[in-house]
Amino acid sequence: MHQRKVALVTGGTRGIGKAIAHKLADQGCDLVINYLRNRTAARETAAELEAKGVRVHLVKTNVAETNKLKDMFSEIEQEFGRLDFFVSNAASGVLRPIMELEESHWDWTMNINSRAFLFCAQEAARVMAKNGGGKMVALSSLGAQFVIPNYTSVGVSKAALEAITRYLAIELAPQNIIVNAVSGGAVDTDALKHFPNREDILADAVGRTPAGRMVTPEDLANAVMFLLSDEASMIRGQTIIVDGGISILA
Ligand SMILES: NC(=O)c1ccc[n+]([C@@H]2O[C@H](COP(=O)([O-])OP(=O)(O)OC[C@H]3O[C@@H](n4cnc5c(N)ncnc54)[C@H](OP(=O)(O)O)[C@@H]3O)[C@@H](O)[C@H]2O)c1
Repeated sequence: MHQRKVALVTGGTRGIGKAIAHKLADQGCDLVINYLRNRTAARETAAELEAKGVRVHLVKTNVAETNKLKDMFSEIEQEFGRLDFFVSNAASGVLRPIMELEESHWDWTMNINSRAFLFCAQEAARVMAKNGGGKMVALSSLGAQFVIPNYTSVGVSKAALEAITRYLAIELAPQNIIVNAVSGGAVDTDALKHFPNREDILADAVGRTPAGRMVTPEDLANAVMFLLSDEASMIRGQTIIVDGGISILA
């Protein structure tokens, strides 16, 4: 039996997922890092993580392709024989005003951000249950609960993700599987480059965040690590907001 804990981070090669992968490596977890297209970022991140002394297995899979997910989890079982942590972090989305949204935009966004979490969680739960349980954390954003310009498709997909988190937390509790989500204010990752109003978002986050600065990938990763810790084991189905206080301003 593989001795070290094993974590899967989807979209773990860049941005917030990468920060989470680093914190897991710092705790001595072996890692399965999933990504979609950017091989260079994947190789660089894998090398950085391996330099910390952990094993890293890269999986290039579109999490929206449900029929490919079984293969990803079979690879995990073959490589490591166990899965302790699943961080559902990969996301995408079409950023348009509501009147410009098309069916394909809706499907693309929902399939990557919501549906993938449900079907990855099913597979993850099967592997985790063989080894006495595990923990899952999904990444959400403030658009799940509040209205952000151009953000309808992503906001709705994240609202679904938060609901899926609650259902999973209850249905998987008997298998000793703990499920929560971490939501965050704007973080200056590559994702923000796709926003038509990026400069306004940055100015707003810098200017209005009560904590006095923008949220960083590490801020979100710290909350994820807490939810993956034994200290958080009685927190079930919750979404913890990490936003420096901006969302509770009137
Ligand atoms: N940035 C923010 O302001 C913010 C705030 C709160 C919450 N979040 C959430 O935090 C998470 C990470 O965001 P981020 O800003 O770090 O994103 P990012 O910089 O755009 O990175 C996205 C990562 O996900 C991967 N990915 C995208 N689509 C995928 C797919 N279909 N299948 C597999 N992998 C896929 C990408 O792989 P490639 O490199 O191959 O493309 C990349 O590794 C998301 O869930 C996001 O909603 C972000």
